[in-house]
Amino acid sequence: MTEKSVLVTGACGEIGQALVQGMATRGGYRVVTADLAPLPDSIRSMSAEHVQGDLVNRIKQFYDYDFDIIYHLAASLSSKAEVATEEAHRINVEGTMQLLMLAAYKSEKYKKSVKFLFPSSIAAYGMTDRVEKQKAGRVKEEDYDNPHTMYGCNKLYCEKLGMYYGRFNGQRHLDPNPPVMLDFRAIRFPGLISAFTLPSGGTSDYGPEMLHHAAQGQAYSCFVREDTKISFMAMPDAIKSLLMLTDVPREKLTSQVYNIAAFALTAGEFRDRAAQAFPGATITFEPNPRRQGIVDSWPEDVDDSRARKDWAWKPDYDVDKFFEEYFLPEIRKRYGK
Ligand code: SER
Repeated sequence: MTEKSVLVTGACGEIGQALVQGMATRGGYRVVTADLAPLPDSIRSMSAEHVQGDLVNRIKQFYDYDFDIIYHLAASLSSKAEVATEEAHRINVEGTMQLLMLAAYKSEKYKKSVKFLFPSSIAAYGMTDRVEKQKAGRVKEEDYDNPHTMYGCNKLYCEKLGMYYGRFNGQRHLDPNPPVMLDFRAIRFPGLISAFTLPSGGTSDYGPEMLHHAAQGQAYSCFVREDTKISFMAMPDAIKSLLMLTDVPREKLTSQVYNIAAFALTAGEFRDRAAQAFPGATITFEPNPRRQGIVDSWPEDVDDSRARKDWAWKPDYDVDKFFEEYFLPEIRKRYGK
């Protein structure tokens, strides 16, 4: 079997590193990585080639490759994007637009759809206030799509751009012989937690930060209230979902955007779990109004029944399994606690 030619942008990020490792474990891929930073040692040998630099400036270079699959993970996350809004827009939207154009061109040229996998986010939602958030409960993909953040606006718009390039590009779907268009598939991720890496610049970061601090015996001051609730997921489940959605035959998909969920937890429940696992952990709550506002605008949980139905999505880790079978064993190995 010939290897699949794959591009992973944002390869040095949390999802990027875990995805490159996931593909290396599976085998059958030739992976080109791209990122602003050099590759970390942990995945260097798994990348056939690494393109270092700003994606928007480097885009011409990628026309030399014929990728079967593009995982476009590079992004400026929600908290960072609020303090550098223009820059975030450039990274989150321009970069995506350039890669979509590339994938559209190649799909048409070789009459074979390039698969374009896009990590969207719970940030695409926007609840007016905490009352609405509580009332809404688990939200469906089409509801409450009124993001409050630059990052959320970027993600929602890029979902739409992906659908445009995948279905209507230039209105040529109406031509007598419509061109082959790219195959766009997006997952709206909850907050992700890895035992191996830490996020940077996001707003769901308090979850992983709290756990990593506690595991190292460091005090942590949480920037949201104890009662703040959103959904989270173990990184291995996020990677599983990306690979599953890549593999599913297109005719089984009734949508191009899918929620996925695993467990929803309050920051206070995180604290309790951390305190139980690491007695003596010092965790305090000092909400930052702006970051609090961002998380208050995100849903408590999401309805992932569409993904469950269309491509048999199911997380491996519920909250207990997450702690007992993934996070705690791995983190204890890492920090020796
Ligand atoms: N984890 C991301 C953030 O906090 C949301 O997709 O920005």
